[in-house]
Amino acid sequence: MRIDVITVMPDMFDGPMSASIIGIARDRGFLDLAIHDLRDWTSDKHRTTDDYPFGGGPGMVMKPDPLYAAIEDVTARSGGDARVLLTTPQGRRLNQALAAELAESSGLVIVCGRYEGIDDRVRRLADLEVSVGDYVLSGGELPAMVIVDAVTRLLPGVLGHSESTSEESFTWGLLEYPQYTRPASFRGMSVPDVLLSGDHAKVAEWRRQQALRKTLQLRPDLLQTADLSESDLEYIERVREEVLGGDE
Ligand code: ADE
Repeated sequence: MRIDVITVMPDMFDGPMSASIIGIARDRGFLDLAIHDLRDWTSDKHRTTDDYPFGGGPGMVMKPDPLYAAIEDVTARSGGDARVLLTTPQGRRLNQALAAELAESSGLVIVCGRYEGIDDRVRRLADLEVSVGDYVLSGGELPAMVIVDAVTRLLPGVLGHSESTSEESFTWGLLEYPQYTRPASFRGMSVPDVLLSGDHAKVAEWRRQQALRKTLQLRPDLLQTADLSESDLEYIERVREEVLGGDE
């Protein structure tokens, strides 16, 4: 997949976009990531990308002209059918379903907002505005990196073990079950016996139940949209009182 990022802080991407899964995905050709400096589309001596807000008020606003030129240029170069995303706190909240939807795109152009805001006329160039949560960051660069990470690991072939994503889809919409590694006993804490039993069916059942319990306890809202079987629903009913400690 081709992902283009347009930013005034290209250096911020150097480390995070070269390490770990993203670095490997780039090296192996699964991800073609290009970070563009918005200043390359300015025409004045100072390479200005922001200006004072009409109507007054604090802070600066990102100018529309370099952004229009950059977005038009980069989308045309990427073949014209990439989705243009704008990172803003008022966008659609990123979740696993949106990451999966974006991973199906032929390409993405991610435009990072900065400063106090962005000229409102730029928003009409975006196919989608994306937020990474209900808090305000100093700019859209960290959100852009979050999007690149969440999308890249879903691209076919990127994760070494094919189970890694199928295990995630096994608990799709639920919190993850607990994991353990050696030693089996550590400072008096031992690993649940079932995980040492070698019985794969029992392990799968235990994991599913642990994922349901954790979700019921910590994120019960997720159970509204999770893909639950009859036996999941029965299990939840059976343990509800014990897990919630009589809160309900
Ligand atoms: N820019 C600033 N805060 C943001 C957020 N929470 N999500 C996306 N872009 C942002």
